[in-house]
Amino acid sequence: MSRGHGMTLCALLLASTVTLAAAPEYPVKDSVEASIIRGGVVFQHYCILCHGAKGDGTGRAAKLYDPKPANLVMSNKNDQYKELIIRMGGKAMGRSEFMPSWGNELTNEQIADVISHLRSIRSPAVVMP
Ligand code: HEC
Repeated sequence: MSRGHGMTLCALLLASTVTLAAAPEYPVKDSVEASIIRGGVVFQHYCILCHGAKGDGTGRAAKLYDPKPANLVMSNKNDQYKELIIRMGGKAMGRSEFMPSWGNELTNEQIADVISHLRSIRSPAVVMP
């Protein structure tokens, strides 16, 4: 029985090694693109209820809040500001208390990835200050 499990573990380890070796053939071109994709998954899980699937501030719960969840497509805040408000929440930044703090919920990588995602959905029309 335990020998059988050992064999299975071996096979799994072997399989994961093979998968890693094959990684360059996956369609993800570079780490920036990978970060944007991972960040999109984070966004879908944690943010769209308020900010909406497109990030334009029209999530299903948006009507509950005043001020409304920010339109992240049109946000002219830089990455540093976004990181702060994502980590610490709206209240700590003198904004709405309904923007939650995610610092304890998300890993540093997830926060960096979701910021990559926000950069990727930002409208080219936005003028940064
Ligand atoms: C419960 C609703 C809610 C959820 C969930 C939520 N937010 Fe927010 N968020 C808000 C509200 C409300 C504001 C606007 C605060 C204000 O204007 O005072 C805001 C503002 C922001 C801003 C500031 C943008 C700007 O231009 O000023 C960023 C960035 C942001 N949210 C990112 C996120 C991210 C990333 C997630 C998911 C990890 C998230 N939010 C999840 C409600 C939410």
